[in-house]
Amino acid sequence: MIINSLMGPLISAGIIGVGKELPEKAVSNQDIVDMGLDTSDEWISERTGIKNRYIADENTSSVDLAEIAAKRAIENAGINVTDLDGIIVSTTTPDHLMFPSAACLLQSRIGARNIFALDVSAACTGFNYAISTGSQFVRTGQMKNVLVVAVDCLSKFVDWTDRAVCPLFGDGAGAVVLSEVKEGYGVLTVDLSSDGRYGDILKVQAGGSRQPMNQNGFDNKEYLIQMAGRAVFKTAVSKLVPSISAVLEKYELSVEEIGTFVFHQANIRIIEFVKDKLGIADDQLYTNIHKYGNTSSASIPIVLDDKKSSFKEGELVMLIGFGAGFAWGVNIVKWGGRL
Ligand code: UT7
Repeated sequence: MIINSLMGPLISAGIIGVGKELPEKAVSNQDIVDMGLDTSDEWISERTGIKNRYIADENTSSVDLAEIAAKRAIENAGINVTDLDGIIVSTTTPDHLMFPSAACLLQSRIGARNIFALDVSAACTGFNYAISTGSQFVRTGQMKNVLVVAVDCLSKFVDWTDRAVCPLFGDGAGAVVLSEVKEGYGVLTVDLSSDGRYGDILKVQAGGSRQPMNQNGFDNKEYLIQMAGRAVFKTAVSKLVPSISAVLEKYELSVEEIGTFVFHQANIRIIEFVKDKLGIADDQLYTNIHKYGNTSSASIPIVLDDKKSSFKEGELVMLIGFGAGFAWGVNIVKWGGRL
């Protein structure tokens, strides 16, 4: 009998609420020049598309940002926190290195009790991995409402004297509530991938079990982000073009049938390269990297929040994540379908 209850029909799982939070402090490109770095607004804007980013102050953590984004998504969904069955937090900058998890801390902060709480670590592809995981629980009827929050405070892990890295990143959180939607709506596809052979091109060397933090690691700044920018750029475009094409082919969709392509906001040139290769039209693309910089896994749900009032009912939205690991992933969401 119990077994039968686990084997009901599959349920359509979709996004019923969205929210975001950015730290208060805005840092413009000129502010970075004024810090004494050998760079310019022109270089950063032209090479990355970034004009501004928000940076968490020393008293603000990932869970602080996640809490506000989560509350906004829950309110936007029109449910109560007590209606949640699970919380998934995508982050590589949890409040604590090992434990407790960010998801457990968030559970307590928003007043949810005794529910599933899980951190997902897939760097900038984390939102794709997290909604893919969360939507499976809704789809199989194991959970009714799952909160997914993607949050990162990478500014706390960049060398603020390294002009090649520090201008790229901003902090932020984006959140969605996943729940049952009308049949055929919601998270339609899950195509996630990884290739760990590229692990070295974007990494934090020290602080883990391979190289626990010590004075040497601290002196050599090995607890901060190390990035081979050009290699990351090349790997991203080489993985994304065939992956997106393969997903479209697999589900027998044309580029024109996708209403909006939402890319991880890492570099406007990566996005435009892929856009041109695939023949994506200007009005199928929405970018906000100029406002927020690269907020890692938060960037896709932050775009969803910025654009939520203009998505059309039934529009196909493609979510494209990529980043450290190397990991990448594509989800197609049919927007709306609220029951
Ligand atoms: O979520 C994934 C996270 N990471 C990424 O997405 C990064 C992907 N990569 C990129 O976005 C680009 O590779 C960067 C923006 C990081 C760099 O742009 P690039 O066009 O690939 O420049 P480059 O690394 O080839 O450097 C070109 C020059 C170098 O000077 P030399 O060697 O030609 O004299 C750099 O030292 O630009 C120099 N440079 C800068 N100059 C002024 C690097 N950063 C800066 C800077 N301002 N901020």
